[in-house]
Amino acid sequence: MTLLPVVGLDRLTDDAVRVVFGVPAGERDVFRYAPGQHVTVRVELGGTEARRAYSLCAAPFGDGVGADAATLSIAVKELGPGGFGEIAAAKLGVGDLVEVLPPAGRFVLQTGPEHVGIVAGSGVTPVLAMAEVALARGDRFTLIYGNRTASSVMFLEELADLKDRYPERLMVLHVLSREPREAALLTGRIDAERLPELLDAAAPGPEARYYLCGPMAMVDTAKEVLAGRGVGRGQVHFELFHAEDAPPPAAYAETAKVLADGDVDVTVTLGGRRTQLAMSKDDDSVLAAVLKARPDTPYSCTGGVCGTCRAKIVTGEVAMAHDYALEPEEKAEGFVLACQSRPLTSTVELDFDA
Ligand code: FES
Repeated sequence: MTLLPVVGLDRLTDDAVRVVFGVPAGERDVFRYAPGQHVTVRVELGGTEARRAYSLCAAPFGDGVGADAATLSIAVKELGPGGFGEIAAAKLGVGDLVEVLPPAGRFVLQTGPEHVGIVAGSGVTPVLAMAEVALARGDRFTLIYGNRTASSVMFLEELADLKDRYPERLMVLHVLSREPREAALLTGRIDAERLPELLDAAAPGPEARYYLCGPMAMVDTAKEVLAGRGVGRGQVHFELFHAEDAPPPAAYAETAKVLADGDVDVTVTLGGRRTQLAMSKDDDSVLAAVLKARPDTPYSCTGGVCGTCRAKIVTGEVAMAHDYALEPEEKAEGFVLACQSRPLTSTVELDFDA
């Protein structure tokens, strides 16, 4: 965690603000990021620690596309009282210091001549950063962007500016669910009926990469629609806001039996340092056990969504309750989400640096 100063604050919509952090010269390498990555902010709320992940919504600093000054911009929605959103909107001021974790995440812009973002609400934030970079390097970008009403659309101005700069290569389809638009195609939700028509209108080529970001139902629908159109799994990348409750897989129940037999020997490598600890049946997850010995362990959502707690299994085996963040290839390579993992073996070794 590093304390970063707020250097800018402005309102994006009625319920969202942009917060810009300055990155001191000595921290620039730590806070360099790829378009699409997120940072986690940590705040104390009523004596308890709260962490939230926010996508970086501008092209990376110092890469010739983003700002020259080292800054990180996030878009924060006010989601009712008691969260970082409320603090950002009501209490935060320029010059305040906020604890921020280095950028993370593998939902990033890929190489290729064409990209399609399918997003809803604040799901636009990582994809906006991707679009800026992709367009600057000469790629085509289509953004299918769902919102409730015109007044809830974030980054309208930024998107209009990009459209002015790259009229031939950027297509933005604003879809509004609670406000009629002139075209019936653009009125309603991004669902299984409308999305194929929107994709027909955009007519992406066979090499296009797809970036899905929004609520789980929209992301799942988009995945199915794309698979039905013959788009390869490797061309589809996604990030969820939050996950809906689902029962854990059967193997997860086995972890309770392993822990009932006695403490599990857990070894972690983090920041180049190895630490050994005991996980007991009272620890909800490997992450919860590891945090007691290594409070510097990275995490954010604790819900299997953000991927911040990703680690590679070196020895032993775990079962995950949920996983909404890992790509199939990462799982095949042995990566797990520590916040969702419990042991299936009496010894487990994880590498957070892998
Ligand atoms: S902390 Fe977000 S997936 Fe584990």
